[in-house]
Amino acid sequence: MGYMIEVEGLKKYYKIAKRDKGLMQTMRGLFKRKYEIRKAVDDISFQIKKGEIVGFIGPNGAGKSTTIKMLSGILYPDEGKLGVNGFVPYKQRKQYVKNIGVVFGQKTQLNWDLPLIESFELMKFIYKIPQEKYEENLHKFVKLLDMEDFINQPVRQLSLGQRMRGDIVAALLHSPEVVFFDEPTIGLDVVAKEKIRGFIKYMNKTEQTTIIFTTHDMQDIEKVCDRLIIIDSGKKVYDGSIDEIKTKYAYSKTVEMLLEDGTKQVQTFDVRKVPMNEVMEKLFAQYHIKDIAICEPEIDAIIRDIYEGRVLLDTNSIGGVHA
Ligand SMILES: Nc1ncnc2c1ncn2[C@@H]1O[C@H](COP(=O)(O)OP(=O)(O)O)[C@@H](O)[C@H]1O
Ligand SMILES: [Mg+2]
Repeated sequence: MGYMIEVEGLKKYYKIAKRDKGLMQTMRGLFKRKYEIRKAVDDISFQIKKGEIVGFIGPNGAGKSTTIKMLSGILYPDEGKLGVNGFVPYKQRKQYVKNIGVVFGQKTQLNWDLPLIESFELMKFIYKIPQEKYEENLHKFVKLLDMEDFINQPVRQLSLGQRMRGDIVAALLHSPEVVFFDEPTIGLDVVAKEKIRGFIKYMNKTEQTTIIFTTHDMQDIEKVCDRLIIIDSGKKVYDGSIDEIKTKYAYSKTVEMLLEDGTKQVQTFDVRKVPMNEVMEKLFAQYHIKDIAICEPEIDAIIRDIYEGRVLLDTNSIGGVHA
């Protein structure tokens, strides 16, 4: 069997009108418009199997949303191949959207003036969801996401977390095989985030729903995803398991020491340069240590290193023993 999602050599360049500052440039601009090309997605490839749940992350402007928009058929790619569940997203739109669900955290597809439930009814109509299936899904989702209290309220009266849960339900009522979530937890409090994470995991487990999930929140990734794709400036910089990233890039270890005189010492070491046993020997020779703890870097620290290009640097450029 093939992959559920196949992306090969995907590119999207935006043409942006250059904005000049001075009057002279403005006048000149009237005659000759200048454009700048922004390579939002620049040759990205990956494959995702049915039932996988993949975290798609990268700094602001990395190209996450542009990729999601191409995958969901909202945007045409400039180059490359795209296949989702046997469809080419930007072709056969009508058939294709029945197979997918899309949630944009920063945009709602709910009707602001109508009670939430009526937006759901509209989805039933648009997607031609059989009544039985609709009721089954609605009942299940509303219960899982704890929405009984506000389902009859107009959307404009909902909190962000409530509205987001509404958007998720609206996108999943037709039981899509693939769901794209673009920052579904942005701006939410911990409780709402947990509800959404639990729900996404549940859908993946019980329905084998294939999921791509963009986020800024490392907790989302660690709690929900098995696999991580990191992009930066339109390029893929990592694709693998979360465990792998930890072992592969966790060269930086932090040692916390409690000294005999009661003071605390914290030092960070690059274990590629100095093996840990040597580090320990040196520390014990140097200090009167009462207690010691060695800490692995957090996943978000590792990812920050990847974004900032530090993992690609030569080991010499990173200090060995330093305070
Ligand atoms: N409609 C657009 N027109 C021009 N440039 C855009 C447009 N949408 C996004 N961009 C630019 O493309 C790059 C990638 O944007 P985006 O895909 O939204 O990144 P992300 O979701 O990772 O923050 C950014 O530099 C952004 O400014
Ligand atoms: Mg985005």
